[in-house]
Amino acid sequence: MALPDVSRLARLSPASLRALGARLSAFAVSPEAIAAARAPSEAPFDPLYEPLRRRSLRARPDPTALALRAFVFRDPITEVEARLVLGETDLITAVDAGLLDRVPEGFVSPWLLGALPGGRLAFSDWLSHGGEAVMGVGGTTRLFLPAVAPPQRIARALDLGCGAGSLALVLAGHAAQVVATDVSPRAVALARLNVALNGLDNVTVREGDLFDPVRGERFDRVVAQPPFVSRPAGFGVVTYQHGGVRGDELAVRIHAEVGPHLTDHGRALTLALLPVTDEPLVDRLARVLGEGFSLLLFEGADADLDAHSAAYAALDHPDLGAAFAEAAVARRDHLARLGVTSTRLALSVVGRGAFTASVSAPALTDVTLSAQQLERRFLAHTLVAGPDAALEAADLAIPVGTTFASPPHGTDAPYAVMAQPPREALAKPLGLAAASRDLLESVDRSSVARSVRDLAERHGAPAAMVAPRVLAAVRQLLSAGLLEPR
Ligand SMILES: C[S@@+](CC[C@H](N)C(=O)[O-])C[C@H]1O[C@@H](n2cnc3c(N)ncnc32)[C@H](O)[C@@H]1O
Repeated sequence: MALPDVSRLARLSPASLRALGARLSAFAVSPEAIAAARAPSEAPFDPLYEPLRRRSLRARPDPTALALRAFVFRDPITEVEARLVLGETDLITAVDAGLLDRVPEGFVSPWLLGALPGGRLAFSDWLSHGGEAVMGVGGTTRLFLPAVAPPQRIARALDLGCGAGSLALVLAGHAAQVVATDVSPRAVALARLNVALNGLDNVTVREGDLFDPVRGERFDRVVAQPPFVSRPAGFGVVTYQHGGVRGDELAVRIHAEVGPHLTDHGRALTLALLPVTDEPLVDRLARVLGEGFSLLLFEGADADLDAHSAAYAALDHPDLGAAFAEAAVARRDHLARLGVTSTRLALSVVGRGAFTASVSAPALTDVTLSAQQLERRFLAHTLVAGPDAALEAADLAIPVGTTFASPPHGTDAPYAVMAQPPREALAKPLGLAAASRDLLESVDRSSVARSVRDLAERHGAPAAMVAPRVLAAVRQLLSAGLLEPR
């Protein structure tokens, strides 16, 4: 099946696109409504559940269900139903623009509609088209979204490799100006359409390779979910999917080039599934970062290569026939040849500074990421790597929701208490000696400087003698995520 013609969509005027977007939002075509209809499978099109999704949506007469059928689940609706969903947008115009196709069973969209937080919507392609298909609100996009919005309102944001524009559409609510770029002309066209669909006037979309379209420009926030899948020899290029032969080439290039595009307090967030080899991921990225930049890398759990190869082969060949089998094996062989042992989802935060740190975060895929939390961890590592004076002056706290458990009775545990930060903190449990726990609480209650003075008094020692040990312990607690800037 050929990709639908994106240029025809331009036949819909900005006013009618905006009206359509508002109408679909009013019908509550939302992330929650789509997730509920999609359950129990994450994939937008999953042959296993398709008949049952249709069954339950067809049993619902409400306009949300009709919109979901026509625009999300490829289930045709009747002419009367289509007119109800479209409202002011004339059905003949919608068909002429290719927004809906007339099929024997009625009307259905060749586009896939995705919903974003804040009532925003994005049309994209079905990824099974491969080639130049444009990615919309995919599973990794949804995971990334809560981290993308900055903790405070900012002036300028960049969505690098924007696809259908999902991240840019969300950033538009948090930045005065958003630039979205993509190397694919089709992605640029769809992102522009989606900007109009959401009636936004602070997002511009530019075409070009990585940072080429923003040469000399600086941003308070850069976000990227680059293509990260490896491309075996003989596989045609799938622009949204292939990050290079090994898969991490684009992610590495982003780290090499992003520095000069950040403002003084700017941050670049990159989320990608990276191939694990014998070189630590953090070294691979830190090696290319320019002088004067810090990198904090949250590394998720390792994913099995058989599952990875099968999943991407199934995306390209959903009928699971002979071509699927061949592609799955070719992908797996390719990774083995490259010395890749697993894949690992990694979220990197880059900003000005001088540290490199990696955080093991097996819960990365299971938590709702928080931009505030990521920022606190970045600032924590900045303090760890910074001068003693800054650390002594810092106002630090134990992450809200941290619990402490004594070892079970009768066990000979090498710790006095097990500290467990909340899942959202992306920090592992840590066994603490009694003195470390006391210090933790003292710093949380008062300050680092005060804790030094108190300890010095208690031991009758000069503060200058106590300080190095306290500061070393505070640095350890900050690195472990048990202390963070308040
Ligand atoms: C995995 S998709 C992510 C889309 C979107 N940002 C999201 O999070 O849903 C990666 C996007 O990067 C784009 N891309 C690939 N190579 C690129 C390059 N060299 N420069 C800019 N964009 C590129 C692809 O066209 C695709 O739209």
